[in-house]
Amino acid sequence: MSKVIDDFHLLNSKQRRYLLNDDEVLIDLVKSNMSMKRFLHSLAVARLAKELASYHHVDSHKAYIAGLLHDIAKEIPLEEQDAYLRYYDPIRLNEAEKIKHSHVAKYYLKDKLNFNDKDILNAIYNHTVLRSRDKLSMILYIADKRDETRNINDEVIEVAKKDLKKAVELLIEKWKEKKIYLDGNLK
Ligand SMILES: [Fe+2]
Ligand SMILES: [Fe+2]
Repeated sequence: MSKVIDDFHLLNSKQRRYLLNDDEVLIDLVKSNMSMKRFLHSLAVARLAKELASYHHVDSHKAYIAGLLHDIAKEIPLEEQDAYLRYYDPIRLNEAEKIKHSHVAKYYLKDKLNFNDKDILNAIYNHTVLRSRDKLSMILYIADKRDETRNINDEVIEVAKKDLKKAVELLIEKWKEKKIYLDGNLK
């Protein structure tokens, strides 16, 4: 766990709120919790999510923050991820290893940072297995699969600008046919 997150419990709620409202603080926090490769992926997802939000009357700042934070739990050791799930969400303990971090992130952000934006937490929770089809969840799901660090140039982003549901269906179709978006190790 990073020092930045470790020290959060020393702050009062006003100080925490102040810090969590500062994008630069969040960027540092994400950077200190993952590899450079994953950090660059997170920044790219944040930017794409923000862009897609602007086409769908969704709060683009929320989309940016959801993108930035979505993989915050990805590099937490699996035993620690399981400990979160055992305590907060035992029904998800049997999920595949690659899926768990999306659920763990919700509890990690709440527990360690007192991060409480329900829309953002819900979208992060759903970014691997899209169980909720609210706009922000769909935007994050799509942005995570087509951020520029993946170098996949197809029609998904253009479709997503017009119709999020269609873009999600397209991604699922492509995955079934070629498994081209879930095979990366950044998922
Ligand atoms: Fe992820
Ligand atoms: Fe990701």
